[in-house]
Amino acid sequence: MGTPDSDALVFFGATGDLAYKKIFPSLQAMVRRDNLNVPVIGVAGRSWTTDQLRERVRDSLEHHGGVDQVAFEKLSSQLQYISGDYNKPETYEKLRQALGDATHPLYYLAIPPSLFAQVVAGLGESGCAKNARVVIEKPFGRDLESARELNKVVTSVFPESSIYRIDHYLGKEPLLNLLYFRFANSFLEPIWNRNYVESIQIVMAENFGIQGRGRFYEETGAIRDVVENHMLQVLASVCMDAPGSTAADAIRDEKERILKAIPSLQPDDIIRGQFCGYRNEEGVSPDSQVETFVAVRFFINTWRWSGVPIYIRAGKNLPVKTTEVMVKLKCPPLDVFQEEGKENTNYVRFLLEPEVIVALGTRAKIPGEDMSGSAVELLSFYGGGNEMEPYERLLGDAMRGDPTLSVREDTVEEEWRIVQAILDNVTPVYEYEPNTWGPPESDKLLLPSDRWYNPLAKE
Ligand code: BG6
Repeated sequence: MGTPDSDALVFFGATGDLAYKKIFPSLQAMVRRDNLNVPVIGVAGRSWTTDQLRERVRDSLEHHGGVDQVAFEKLSSQLQYISGDYNKPETYEKLRQALGDATHPLYYLAIPPSLFAQVVAGLGESGCAKNARVVIEKPFGRDLESARELNKVVTSVFPESSIYRIDHYLGKEPLLNLLYFRFANSFLEPIWNRNYVESIQIVMAENFGIQGRGRFYEETGAIRDVVENHMLQVLASVCMDAPGSTAADAIRDEKERILKAIPSLQPDDIIRGQFCGYRNEEGVSPDSQVETFVAVRFFINTWRWSGVPIYIRAGKNLPVKTTEVMVKLKCPPLDVFQEEGKENTNYVRFLLEPEVIVALGTRAKIPGEDMSGSAVELLSFYGGGNEMEPYERLLGDAMRGDPTLSVREDTVEEEWRIVQAILDNVTPVYEYEPNTWGPPESDKLLLPSDRWYNPLAKE
């Protein structure tokens, strides 16, 4: 890449939830793969010792993926903990000392966005930002304007080329497989356009509620939480043109081109839902209008996709936990076999979670006298294998200075531009029962020839 690898990993928010659930397990995995051989420094407000941080890491690993004794001990020996107020220069002074000989540290801000500005300023003023990289976690702002503000703050200290914005969906193996599958084969490309594709559906379903995050969710809602970022990234991966290479900007430019071609969504393009019981959750207002489900209809104004409806649904407390992309193909041009009641089952389906499947929906003849058939799926299934968790991949990339999977600022702004007019409860919110596919009102978005495809629960 031409830039040196990071020689220290510093993470702010070391005592927080994200570190506990995601980062410690990823650090252990990096050590296990021999990809983390530098000092690892946790920073947070609580007056802990390094031993307390080590205990926290062990506890995290016991609950999230298991302790690998050898890797854990190595990681423990690399760990240091710094306690301090993010507003005080002393905190950054301690950090400078802890960095020792490191000259190209990586700073990971696993902290609420409201604290970004003070930490970035602290790093800048103390000289700690020199030759460093910074990783920031979604959400990147809460609308277009605040995203621009946040960007101003971060770029006042770090150049764009040293900023890594993490949308963890981009580090998911199944999404990378989708890109690979599309562009490592030639048979999809001729049909991947408005002449053959009737519609595209993407669903991100979760079979649990807001898991005690009432206050956060009241500020966020499904559109900000997962549509503006994860779902638009999946959509871009499904619809982008082939990049010329795997160079970071070759891929990111193609995604950007797709996002640019999506008109800003309007209230008529969405149906919002809220699961019954949400308003009784801690931290949620008794008359909250915030959505825990949203269905959205898009079009992409390019030569390839013009007129093809694209539907996204995302929600909490739906019947299954899954993410799936369904690309429905048009009917054959002539109904040769005249079978009554037959549904068009020609499609390409990418199941991204809970397992990775690519399926072709076809019809095949039922043996016997009649020329009639039934729906048959041709399946390709990918086993887990040596799969990397998203945070391991994304942090490793940032340490090596590879920005391919980090979100560029122009992309962040496009994403907010697309959803800006549908933020902040601009349409009614309809109730739905937990364990259902959201409010029936979402049918109103469908064109007459479409229906919702609801992934099945795994047996
Ligand atoms: C996060 C959202 O970004 O993604 C959560 O804040 C959501 O609400 C989560 O549950 C889903 O990601 P994953 O990888 O756990 O499916």
